[in-house]
Amino acid sequence: MLSVRGLTKSFPGARALDGVDFAVGPGEVHALIGENGAGKSTLIKLLTGVYRPDAGEITFRGGPVRFATPLEAQHAGISTIYQEVNLVPLMSVARNLFLGREPRGRLGLIDFGRMHREAAEALAGLGLRVDVRRPLRSLGVGAQQMVALARAVSVDARVVIMDEPTSSLEPREVRTLFGVIRMLKERGIAVVYVSHRLDELYEVCDTVTVLRDGKRVHTGPIADLDRLRLVSLMLGREMSEVRGEGLTKFSGAHEAAGEPVLVATDLTVRHQLRSVSVTVRPGEVVGLGGLLGSGRSETARAIAGALPTDSGRVVVAGAPVRTGSTPAAIRAGISLLPEDRKAEGIVPGLSVRENIALAALPGLSRFGLVDDARIDRVVDTFMKRLRIKASGPHQRVGELSGGNQQKVLLARWLAMRPKVLLLDEPTRGIDVGAKAEVQGLIDELADEGLAVVLISSDMEELIEGSDRVVVLKDGAVVAELTGAEVTGERLLHAIAAQGGPGGEGGPDE
Ligand SMILES: Nc1ncnc2c1ncn2[C@@H]1O[C@H](COP(=O)(O)OP(=O)(O)OP(=O)(O)O)[C@@H](O)[C@H]1O
Ligand SMILES: [Mg+2]
Repeated sequence: MLSVRGLTKSFPGARALDGVDFAVGPGEVHALIGENGAGKSTLIKLLTGVYRPDAGEITFRGGPVRFATPLEAQHAGISTIYQEVNLVPLMSVARNLFLGREPRGRLGLIDFGRMHREAAEALAGLGLRVDVRRPLRSLGVGAQQMVALARAVSVDARVVIMDEPTSSLEPREVRTLFGVIRMLKERGIAVVYVSHRLDELYEVCDTVTVLRDGKRVHTGPIADLDRLRLVSLMLGREMSEVRGEGLTKFSGAHEAAGEPVLVATDLTVRHQLRSVSVTVRPGEVVGLGGLLGSGRSETARAIAGALPTDSGRVVVAGAPVRTGSTPAAIRAGISLLPEDRKAEGIVPGLSVRENIALAALPGLSRFGLVDDARIDRVVDTFMKRLRIKASGPHQRVGELSGGNQQKVLLARWLAMRPKVLLLDEPTRGIDVGAKAEVQGLIDELADEGLAVVLISSDMEELIEGSDRVVVLKDGAVVAELTGAEVTGERLLHAIAAQGGPGGEGGPDE
């Protein structure tokens, strides 16, 4: 259906793709994996006309092709969900679904009635019930991803490419997605699937191609490789070395001692949070559990001043913090790694170094003068520890691969040395090797006495990483699990308690 030979693409300072062969046939689900910066997104962008290859050829349905734009690729029958959501946040959900092919009436005007009806139907088919007239950006990241999925499968495609489609999805939505993939497979459509969640691959993929440093290092049936072997191919290291990698790296319980450093009491935000209280002691990692729309991100944002509260108090180290003000929260020592990093963090035009030093600058200055040598040291340390793949500290962040951009943002908040660190999905989109590093870092920071609040859709991460888990549902705390109670079973039980499965699609997280 779609194949490439000898595909090569260089950027200034980086050979992103180097002589890669790749092919996918009808009804085949082909996984494309590799570390952050291995070249996965670049391959996809070459296939779909976002970039032009330096060398190599692309064959689609038996003939050579050279797409000039993604739209051209889409019209030819290649539908893509890009890693960066490429929808229009201010336009309505329905409009985004039909962008470029809106149903029109007699006078050539958009038939809004029909568009809204059909959009609602398409989304309901994926289990998402939202008002399709709302602007897309009012939806949570996960729901936005479902809109992108609906868009990709509603066009008449022969190939559907998905670059990390599950990174912001809840388990329930992942099930829906897998259902969609199976349906595509039955219809003889070719699927290319990029993901860092290796377990998923075994469930839906037939074939796997592993990229490392822009080169193809393996292609074959996925059933022939176990997880450990996959990881060792990705990282290019021996199996004995990577043993256990890809599993969580938390050391277990921390020594939480003394008075709570964070006391958030009765946080209430109309329609979003009801009297939520969270306390964290120095050295403690408190997880927030719950489904999409349960209020986890809102709780973190309310504590960090990013979401104005109607009532409630936040106290850090005994001192009250003005709510609804991010600067006040930062001054008090609260750092938040936000869920939506595109919208709330990365400055693509600035360098890696500037992006990391941005928030820590006051702490890295002396007598109002910026201490360059110290910044260099901090930047260097984090680039090494998190294995940030860049040509150097001065490369623009916008040129980094998706996962490496995430690492830069994480480094920024870690470099601030806050008292309270709120992490909303800290390892999303990050490859297995660096994931273990990040988890190790969280552990270390807790051991140094930092108070950590951890939000993760990765159950294993949440359970292993948290000393205590506060479970939220519909914007309220429904349970709290401590120590030995923090198990998958107890957590699922707490989430499922009090009536059926959580809210419909939860647009509010
Ligand atoms: N526009 C660009 N300018 C400069 N370098 C780029 C550009 N796009 C990609 N690169 C480089 O090409 C390499 C491959 O990036 P790519 O985005 O394909 O990685 P990836 O495998 O998708 O990683 P991730 O898992 O993090 O999404 C990286 O080293 C990246 O820095
Ligand atoms: Mg990518």
